[in-house]
Amino acid sequence: MPPGKKLWGGRFVSATAGSVEAFTASIDVDARLYRHDIAGSIAHARMLARQRIIAPREARRIVAGLEAIRDEIDEGKFRFSAADEDIHMNIERRLIERIGRVGEKLHTARSRNDQVALDLRLYLRDEVKAIIVAVDGLKRELARTAKRHIDVVMPGYTHLQRAQPVLFSHHLLAYADMLERDTERMRDCLKRMDVLPLGSGALAGTTLPIDRRYVARLLGFARVSKNSLDSVADRDFAIEFIAAAAILFVHLSRLAEEWVLWSSTEFGFIELPDRYCTGSSMMPQKKNPGVPELVRGKAGRVFGHLQALLTIMKGLPLAYNRDLQEDKRPLFDTVDTVKASLEVMRELAAGVKVRKQRMTEAAADGFMNATDLADYLVEHGVPFRSAHGIVGRIVRSCVERGVKIEDLPLGELKRFSPKIEKDVYAYLTADAGVGRRRSEGGTAPVNVRRRLKELGV
Ligand code: ARG
Repeated sequence: MPPGKKLWGGRFVSATAGSVEAFTASIDVDARLYRHDIAGSIAHARMLARQRIIAPREARRIVAGLEAIRDEIDEGKFRFSAADEDIHMNIERRLIERIGRVGEKLHTARSRNDQVALDLRLYLRDEVKAIIVAVDGLKRELARTAKRHIDVVMPGYTHLQRAQPVLFSHHLLAYADMLERDTERMRDCLKRMDVLPLGSGALAGTTLPIDRRYVARLLGFARVSKNSLDSVADRDFAIEFIAAAAILFVHLSRLAEEWVLWSSTEFGFIELPDRYCTGSSMMPQKKNPGVPELVRGKAGRVFGHLQALLTIMKGLPLAYNRDLQEDKRPLFDTVDTVKASLEVMRELAAGVKVRKQRMTEAAADGFMNATDLADYLVEHGVPFRSAHGIVGRIVRSCVERGVKIEDLPLGELKRFSPKIEKDVYAYLTADAGVGRRRSEGGTAPVNVRRRLKELGV
């Protein structure tokens, strides 16, 4: 493209090198902002007319032109050009092409610097709202699955060693609480996003009599930014969103990891539906948990995006720098990855088959009632530390003989402590152990039922 043809070409003598055109273009990535870019431009044009900076008739033609361009892009008829760098200039050029010189008035009192800051906020505001709904959807699906299997007892783990029996439903609802915090964090990000940057110009504001509050009202922003330099240089809201997404992915990948483990032959606690598993190209017998594995892997991508954006921003002098164009790939990929992962995890949560028998058997094994026996002794007046010692000796003796605590006859248990009575056997079942853990937040069915009610399932 000859220099005179570029929207910013006036002061240039020679044409941009082909390599530079390709290198600086971002249209491949930022074309997805078109709806938000056009919404922002329409609000800007209406404000310019209201302030008599352009004529109302001119604004009407600009708005109609922009709406027609939106339809062209919707219908796949728009020809994007790398010579016009980005979505902002592609649309502006097409506007001028369609409606003539009046189109040249749209960019009055505006820079691409405040324009792109606006577009990103408009875009992310919509996406974060959709993500909040999706996180909530997964949370509710987990709660529904918990409700269907409310009484299934499984081993609870610490150090991945069997520790104490818990309800499978209680375990799933742990993730509901994590996801609830994730939605809170997302809502919190929305607050910082709710600020209009448009009207900051390239960096210093404008000499023209614009009305930023009117634009904020048109676009549904609660506030107008207070410092023009900060407005065009700030991407905190994007960093904050990716950070919240990274924490969400910590949770998703832990859940995914458990489903991988639990669906293995070694655990056998759950079965993943065929529709959500993948096969092996060589081993005919394989049914692999490819979906949760990929969710676990994609966590790494999102963590990388957070690191990328922090590094892009670090040390940039005020105000706008072209480095900021690199914010889009990590941001957009985070949005896509979060939405896709939430959707498959929700579908998996709905379809997972629970192998109750396996969980119940596992929960009866591994001396997981040892703490219960210690608590029994405490209830009979033995100080906890002594009770711990007594039960430890009982367990050691059982391990040596290859039996469970409840296999020992009463006479033998009494040799370890005379306080033990016949009622101890009813005390030592996994169901009884779970049922007694009624302390607030504990795994007892009453607590889990209350939590499910709170969650509205
Ligand atoms: N495509 C650019 C970006 O995403 C828009 C702003 C360009 N501003 C500039 N002065 N070149 O950051």
